[in-house]
Amino acid sequence: MDWKNMQVPERYKLGEAITGPFAAHLVALSGFSTADGSSELDVLDNACGTGVVTFQLYEHAPAIARARMSVVCADLSPLMVENVAARIAANGWVGATAQVADAQSLSVTLPTDDFTHVLTNFAACHLPDPRAGFREAFRVLRPGGTLAFTVWKAVGWYPHTARALALIPGAPALPPYADFVGSMVTATESGEGEKRKWVDPAFIEARVREAGFTEVATVLRENATRMAGAAEHAQAYSEITKLMLSMMWGDKVKEFGAQFEGALERAVREEVGDGEVVLKWEAYCVIAKKA
Ligand SMILES: C[S@@+](CC[C@H](N)C(=O)[O-])C[C@H]1O[C@@H](n2cnc3c(N)ncnc32)[C@H](O)[C@@H]1O
Repeated sequence: MDWKNMQVPERYKLGEAITGPFAAHLVALSGFSTADGSSELDVLDNACGTGVVTFQLYEHAPAIARARMSVVCADLSPLMVENVAARIAANGWVGATAQVADAQSLSVTLPTDDFTHVLTNFAACHLPDPRAGFREAFRVLRPGGTLAFTVWKAVGWYPHTARALALIPGAPALPPYADFVGSMVTATESGEGEKRKWVDPAFIEARVREAGFTEVATVLRENATRMAGAAEHAQAYSEITKLMLSMMWGDKVKEFGAQFEGALERAVREEVGDGEVVLKWEAYCVIAKKA
């Protein structure tokens, strides 16, 4: 996936109904909701996308804490950064800035021992080299700082996609979710066997400790999203699903892409008839400290 050149910010905004509640959990688990303004809060919203974590920070941190809060929104994609910069200006988020940065080499653009918090919503384990991402988060945090990130346990679009693909003659079968995540990992130190483990909380916790973090803890959270019916669902999800599949299959998606929306609608209708479509999303929220 060429993140730098994807025209995706608008799609991601739609996705905030899905990811926003988990960003809110990260913010709460990191203590922002009860921050009392007694210390500086210097936050990196790492791989920020459209700024869903930053939105939650400004929504939930009390005014007294916001007065001493700065937030750097960083993303590899200049389009995302442009988008979040406009959002910062539109919302008047005092103390927030946006810049391009690669989560795997933050030290190129961001200082060492600087942030009190690094928050990463749904990106830490989808980097080509997730270990490098954790090492860099450790480096930019100051001693006593907090790392918090989310990792999908189950994505709502996966089961329907598997059934839709099965309805299209010649389309590939959808592999287990762990394989999909593993297909994004290209780091050579993550050998083939390890690639599918970036969905396993014990494995992920071990990688976080390996980067130097202590007090590593994981909690599971869930969210449900709803669509009025199968047609609405297929219309909303077919393009974004094809984009996700192209991360794994590249141009192969074009071979069945034209049939996908119809197949998705049929697959969903077989399950819910004319009823509402409810998608279940589950994610691990991992919190760790730099001693
Ligand atoms: C699944 S989105 C998550 C965005 C946002 N945190 C959210 O919760 O909606 C993944 C984000 O990671 C960014 N990204 C991908 N590779 C990156 C890298 N190496 N360094 C920084 N950001 C990266 C993408 O541009 C995208 O905005």
